[in-house]
Amino acid sequence: MKGIILAGGNGTRLSPLTRVTSKQLLPIYDQPMIYYPLHTLLQAGITEILIITAPDHAGDFLNFLGSGRDFKAKFTYEIQDKPMGLAQGLSIAETFVGDDSCTMILGDNIFEYNFTKDVQQFSAGAKIFVKPVSDPERFGVVVMNEHNQVINIEEKPTKPKSNLAQTGIYIYDQQVFDLIRALQPSARHELEITDLNNLYLAQGTLSAQLITGEWIDTGTFESLFKAAQFRRQQVRKS
Ligand code: G1P
Repeated sequence: MKGIILAGGNGTRLSPLTRVTSKQLLPIYDQPMIYYPLHTLLQAGITEILIITAPDHAGDFLNFLGSGRDFKAKFTYEIQDKPMGLAQGLSIAETFVGDDSCTMILGDNIFEYNFTKDVQQFSAGAKIFVKPVSDPERFGVVVMNEHNQVINIEEKPTKPKSNLAQTGIYIYDQQVFDLIRALQPSARHELEITDLNNLYLAQGTLSAQLITGEWIDTGTFESLFKAAQFRRQQVRKS
């Protein structure tokens, strides 16, 4: 299993904090944001990790994280020239992933859940991870039936059909890159991760796992603050 951290984008919603640095290098209490998704992958036993960044701050990530040796891992770096969607970002990983499967995590997502079992038991298709939230319209919204099967996923609907958010971590088999090639850009001119997941759903190979513990997408000032408070509590407990 290969790991991918998608740390592209301009972080415009966090301006001016992101004017001279990348969102994923901003502090969350005592650690830079990217440490959290990195830890999530390492904890799941994934040690070959591709970090995809925007061009402006690529050097900062390399200087900061290095080869991966300090983390007992191997890091590779690629650049997403323009933020053209999460699925477009993932397509950059094709050579790196080869004929392996991959876990992609967004560089601004913080999870308390341990993904080790999900990664170890993954064999084929795609797996998404969902969590009930109070503001589903901010996310991909997942409708599931009583057998925990996905019925449908809608990207940031104005009228969400459930309170289940698709979180920012996804496991895919080797066919993911062929499926990305079949995607059409959305109305906001991006290749959407939700459209990709819906292709797996149409094939009948998409599964979903409800996750426990805290999950924070730190894309806003409020969630950035909440994440720092969460981390502070964790540090104080330990
Ligand atoms: C992206 C996805 C969305 C998902 C979210 C999780 O949204 O498009 O489906 O729920 O990540 O963090 P974005 O953070 O790009 O707005």
